Amino acid sequence: MPPASDDSSAPDVGELTPPTRTLMGPGPSDVHPRVLRAMSTPLVGHLDPSFIEIMNDVQELLRYAFQTDNQWTIPVSGTGSASMEAAIGNVVEPGDTMLVPTNGYFGGRMASMARRAGGEVVEVDAPWGEPLDPATVSDALAEHDPDVFGFVHAETSTGVRQPNVPELTAAAHDHDALVITDTVTSLGGVELRVDEWDIDVAYSGPQKCLSCPPGASPLTLSDEAMEKVLSREEPSRSWYLDLSLLEGYWGDERAYHHTAPITNVYSIREALRLVAEEGIENRWARHRRLAGALKAGAEGMGLEMNPDDEYWLPSLNAVRVPEGIDDGEVCDELLERYDLEIAGGLGDLAGEIFRIGCMGYSASPENVTLLIAALADVLDDFGADVDPDGGVAACREALR
Ligand SMILES: Cc1ncc(COP(=O)(O)O)c(C=O)c1O
Repeated sequence: MPPASDDSSAPDVGELTPPTRTLMGPGPSDVHPRVLRAMSTPLVGHLDPSFIEIMNDVQELLRYAFQTDNQWTIPVSGTGSASMEAAIGNVVEPGDTMLVPTNGYFGGRMASMARRAGGEVVEVDAPWGEPLDPATVSDALAEHDPDVFGFVHAETSTGVRQPNVPELTAAAHDHDALVITDTVTSLGGVELRVDEWDIDVAYSGPQKCLSCPPGASPLTLSDEAMEKVLSREEPSRSWYLDLSLLEGYWGDERAYHHTAPITNVYSIREALRLVAEEGIENRWARHRRLAGALKAGAEGMGLEMNPDDEYWLPSLNAVRVPEGIDDGEVCDELLERYDLEIAGGLGDLAGEIFRIGCMGYSASPENVTLLIAALADVLDDFGADVDPDGGVAACREALR
């Protein structure tokens, strides 16, 4: 051990001891121990031959998770927003029109990014808490003739799963628009078939249904989308996220662009290996079963889900806050009493819903049972009109 410093100006900061939480909010989810172990693997250089192999593995595993053969499938260095901005900032050129939805927070973020890319934004409306209606999308496509259509497959702010994806992509392609899909809260947890559904570009994040820390974020582009990116008249406004430059690192050449976040690449490799071991369809089924038990427990205690069953999103359960209850106080109490994280609503649904994640490693019978018992306990103590035993019994029955 080197001698302790006698520099009195050096900050005296204690050891890192965050609390042990159970993460059942909108993300991050609990990280699988195997992924945590992979993160403590010693570094190699970002151009080391062994790392090139690791990059190939990640690309192959990502194609499986996305259900695509797209050659252009990479983990973008950064959080989900980096992957989102890589998608929008490269595909949308100055002067292009992008059609975006108004039915949630992340559609709004798509609009901001498209504007910064120099695009003109037009909107297709649906209320928060509802999916897009294919007929309304078709009308908007006919009216605005956009170059790009973006939508959110799993809207984390509302707990809505967009159904009818093939109908939406077919309508967009009838109008020669490329489709960008936000799959941050669906990849690895909710049925998603990039090729079969004819999605041109899909971006995601690792910290939701992949149960991996944020830092390397999945992105896939079809050849046609990549052709548009590579034939842009002016380069993308971001140097760091310019896919024509990143091609040098993730394509055949494997030349330096930036120092890849090695540890995050290790972690996503392990997280994706877990997806492949379980099988993607089994994984979707597990999320449906465990989130189904969570939903049964919530409904069994007398709570109401916000979205219709038809577009329920297993990875993010939007449960209506009962009459007279403050959502923030419930979230605080769950954290304090049970070390359990859930979240309240955002935007148009602020104060109206709890957002309860059931993602990846967090989608387990133990977590779902704890969540229902703890939520019932806290709501009952706060005087909500709930049946705590009914909730626990319904959850238990659904888990049998
Ligand atoms: C649907 C959706 N899109 C995009 C993002 C942005 O991802 P990040 O927060 O990792 O940058 C999130 C994050 O919660 C999200 O839920």
